[in-house]
Amino acid sequence: MNGYIPGFGNHVATEAVSGALPVGRNSPQKVPFGLYAEQLSGTAFTAPRAENKRSWLYRLRPTASHPAFTPYPGAAHLKTAPFAAVPPSPNRLRWDPLPWPGAAVDWIDGLITYGGTGDVAEQTGVGIHLYAATADMDRAFFSADGEMLIVPQEGALAIVTELGRIDVAPLQIAVIPRGVRFRVALPDGRARGYVLENYGALLRLPDLGPIGANGLANPRDFETPLAWFEDLDTPCDVVQKFQGGLWQTRLEHSPFDVVAWHGNLAPYRYDLRRFNTINTVSFDHPDPSIFTVLTSPSDTPGTANCDFVIFPPRWMVAEDTFRPPWFHRNVMSEFMGLIAGAYDAKEGGGFVPGGASLHNQMNGHGPDQASYEKAVAADLKPHKIDGTMAFMFETRHVVRLTQWAAAAPTMQLDYDDVWTGFTKAQLPQS
Ligand SMILES: [Fe+2]
Repeated sequence: MNGYIPGFGNHVATEAVSGALPVGRNSPQKVPFGLYAEQLSGTAFTAPRAENKRSWLYRLRPTASHPAFTPYPGAAHLKTAPFAAVPPSPNRLRWDPLPWPGAAVDWIDGLITYGGTGDVAEQTGVGIHLYAATADMDRAFFSADGEMLIVPQEGALAIVTELGRIDVAPLQIAVIPRGVRFRVALPDGRARGYVLENYGALLRLPDLGPIGANGLANPRDFETPLAWFEDLDTPCDVVQKFQGGLWQTRLEHSPFDVVAWHGNLAPYRYDLRRFNTINTVSFDHPDPSIFTVLTSPSDTPGTANCDFVIFPPRWMVAEDTFRPPWFHRNVMSEFMGLIAGAYDAKEGGGFVPGGASLHNQMNGHGPDQASYEKAVAADLKPHKIDGTMAFMFETRHVVRLTQWAAAAPTMQLDYDDVWTGFTKAQLPQS
């Protein structure tokens, strides 16, 4: 059992060995037990206090003590924005789930980038990856390019990070800060899911406005791990992603040697089943922003670098209302995945757990014909959508595809057919 501290973005203090954490100062002349004090900065030193994220780590050896990094030849499908290899596509696109790899593939080599937005060098945008892995990592990984929001779809993940251990299973998420080293084991033998690599402003809880002080994802339901370390003097490779390049080095010891830490920059997890879903109790389907779990703001207020939005089980009670998500053209771009069950706008099938869809800026999308016909004919009694969890990465920039995603054998070439066959509206004869 791993231990966790409840709360979002709190300043916490945790030590795996009693007395390891210095008291009253960050960097005493002599750290207890000869541990090395090291600051991990997630924002500029001068970021406003409310935005400032940093932690102090106390470890067996300093992170700086390592040989030079050399290019890492693996993870051939792990890519980084800007994505310029193929022209941005206005087409609605949908993919079947990733097939399981035939050989043993760990979580790093199992990452496949579908696309993304912005430019890592400008610290804007996101990378969107899916993973299908069949082997435990016996090495460490970190992204210097962005924090990683991990959305398991099948199979649990046992994640060891420098700041503690996080267990997640489907319907939970984990967020690993930029630069934090981690290792992923697969308790179920294999795992599949989605990753948002956020190059921009750190993910945070959305403002609630007139909703009030409570609702959506409540801060207390986020969990930060207690300090945990391993004292292993055995070689460990470390792979890092740096401006899109992949590099590796070898340590002669485990990098997971942080005995104590304090601060407000740390990995965390959240159970999507704890989301307090808010929706209409009168009429009209609200904008799906009502389902935002976390948001990475951009420099334009209210226009996210990326929102992480979920479509959880919920009661539908609206009167005189077309209840599924409506037809839509959006200045934002929408990349969707499905963790479990069925999505209420796609009764016709095709959007299956582990699959993905992309509806880019200003291109029409919405319910398929089966969903539409069912919804307009429905007897509008209270109805519970249950056993489902879909999600969306919604970004202000067009999602550009990688070559892999644009030519993927899993792409559904007939996706446009979802919106064929709608009958023409009939005006009264004059
Ligand atoms: Fe939409």
